[in-house]
Amino acid sequence: MSNFAPNSVLNAMIPLCFQIRKLIRRLPGIVIQWVPKPNPKVLEGCGVRGKVGELCRGCSHVLVVTDSTLYGLGFHQTIVDSLQEEHIDFSLFKEIDSEPDSDVVEQGRKAAKDSDCIVALGGGSVMDASKMIAASLRKPRRSVRSLMQKFLFARTLPLITIPTTAGTGAEHTVGAVVKDSKKGNKCATVVVGLNVKAVLLDSELTLKIPPKITAACGIDALSHGIEGCLADVKVSVEDVRKSEECVRLVFENLPEVMRNPDNLAARQAMGRAAFYGGNAINKQLAGYVHAFAHSIGACYHLSHGEAIALCLLPVLRYQKEACIKELARLAEVCGIRQQNEAIAAEQFLQALDRLISDCGIQRNGTILQRCDFQHLTRLIAADSINYSPKTTFSDKDILNVLESMIVTSD
Ligand SMILES: [Fe+2]
Repeated sequence: MSNFAPNSVLNAMIPLCFQIRKLIRRLPGIVIQWVPKPNPKVLEGCGVRGKVGELCRGCSHVLVVTDSTLYGLGFHQTIVDSLQEEHIDFSLFKEIDSEPDSDVVEQGRKAAKDSDCIVALGGGSVMDASKMIAASLRKPRRSVRSLMQKFLFARTLPLITIPTTAGTGAEHTVGAVVKDSKKGNKCATVVVGLNVKAVLLDSELTLKIPPKITAACGIDALSHGIEGCLADVKVSVEDVRKSEECVRLVFENLPEVMRNPDNLAARQAMGRAAFYGGNAINKQLAGYVHAFAHSIGACYHLSHGEAIALCLLPVLRYQKEACIKELARLAEVCGIRQQNEAIAAEQFLQALDRLISDCGIQRNGTILQRCDFQHLTRLIAADSINYSPKTTFSDKDILNVLESMIVTSD
């Protein structure tokens, strides 16, 4: 009996939470419009990382941030050579791991204290840690942990970002995810004042990425473009075009990269797709695909890309009726010629299904346990508060999508 009353209260509150969520659905999309976005110079091409020295002219000291694996592969060498050619002092910080925490950001801040520019070379983890290093330098009296709030207002040190995967778009997104080293939880912080002065998209850096990671990152980039197109956020025609272009580029180039991993032109195009996907996150935010993927990924220890691949189609299918027009437009962007919008939307989803399969990505919904569904539903509903999707899912809707993931896999 002792648990009865609190559960009743909780159950009574669920429809109320849903109504509140429906009411405030457009709020994240309005708030994000007021966050200044970086407007970096973008340099693209094989070996373009050698331009770092030129871009850093006038700097007195540069900190190159990377991880030990990339350091071991010697990816930093061309960058270091270009800085030496320009007689610019530099130091290397290669301590970032796959889940950077507040302690490593503190170390990075100490390493960067005399720098006037940070060069971030790596995947999403290096990018996020570098953003927090660049921001925390402006708040020297505060601990990094205390800065890990929802919004961090700080005009950061200038960053030059060089992504080594084509996926997250983190090279210019305003968000940074870093783990609290004391509590162990991940904190997503929006850096208001992120100053990315240049993004270097160098296809050569993605050549050694294992196929499984290439595929998962590519599908993540694709999901950013798609969710950008489906978001209920007011953006410019140019931003919509970039989201659509992200989707088109992934459809056109990811299968080719999987077939011919040495095709630098296709890899370069994937770099641009990921960059446009980052623009979608900055301007339109993500949506329910990400709310599901974050929660399922955390619960079953899947990488972000694997979780996205698992959730993408079931979540889009569930939203199909509300998003027919947008999905039909994406079909057209991907070269599907069909007058009837409902049929075009369905054909786009089928093409998406084939793309994920052709890239060899496993979508194993059987890892989902029905006993976890109540917990997952709470996590997904809480995470969805960060986005402005076209529709609002009730708990029943979330449960239906989770169920469809298991059933599809049975
Ligand atoms: Fe993502």
